[in-house]
Amino acid sequence: MNLLRRILQSILFRFFLPFRLLMFYHRRVYKFSLPNLLKIRRHELIFKTYPISNQKIKISGSGCVEIGEKCSFGYKLGGRFYNGLIEIQPRYKKSQIKIGNNVSTNNNLILCAANYIEIGDNSLIGEGVSIMDHEAHGIAPDKRRELGEIGKVIIGQNVWIGNGVMILKNSSIGENSIVAAGAVVSGEFPANVIIGGVPAKIIRAL
Ligand SMILES: CC(C)(COP(=O)(O)OP(=O)(O)OC[C@H]1O[C@@H](n2cnc3c(N)ncnc32)[C@H](O)[C@@H]1OP(=O)(O)O)[C@@H](O)C(=O)NCCC(=O)NCCS
Repeated sequence: MNLLRRILQSILFRFFLPFRLLMFYHRRVYKFSLPNLLKIRRHELIFKTYPISNQKIKISGSGCVEIGEKCSFGYKLGGRFYNGLIEIQPRYKKSQIKIGNNVSTNNNLILCAANYIEIGDNSLIGEGVSIMDHEAHGIAPDKRRELGEIGKVIIGQNVWIGNGVMILKNSSIGENSIVAAGAVVSGEFPANVIIGGVPAKIIRAL
């Protein structure tokens, strides 16, 4: 009986170890490190521990990205997983994006900062969320080809952002709050509320 168990264990070990190594390589190297090799070498991508990169992550732009520990990006069963991408773009040299610890995101997140975007610890972000801290175009008709107003976005700790949410410049969301699916957020919102709609308003307190 013991011998049989040992044989079975040895077969399983031989089969699963290469498979697990392959998955490990696939997530860390192919989906995270390789697309961002230059950013890592230039210390423009700093991470406490390797995030779980289920979807490919591309850091573009010339600023700096900081990722805390135990973060995870992309979810196979979250919809629009295949051929999708998570794009984190600190657009200019002084732009900064800071992602806290234990942040989990669904697929196809876009973070685009001309100045500063911060995502608090333990936050959850749904599928197809876009967060931008600036207007890429001027408001005045003759300024449309110029960079518009630049602000910042601060997402507090333990915030849950639903699917398809768009968060615009100069927005802040207090800790524990929920942003309902499909909301367009502009402005400052307190802790412990549900906000939703276009433009987002407080729906109720938690
Ligand atoms: C925000 C949310 C959690 C609220 O859930 P809930 O507390 O059960 O809310 P209810 O369904 O009871 O609705 C409460 C009110 O909010 C409104 N509301 C709910 N979701 C809304 C939305 N996405 N946009 C605008 N208003 C919304 C309802 O119409 C209702 O308004 P009323 O009181 O005037 O009738 C839920 O609606 C939601 O958006 N979840 C996100 C789902 C998602 O994206 N999942 C992906 C996870 S990664």
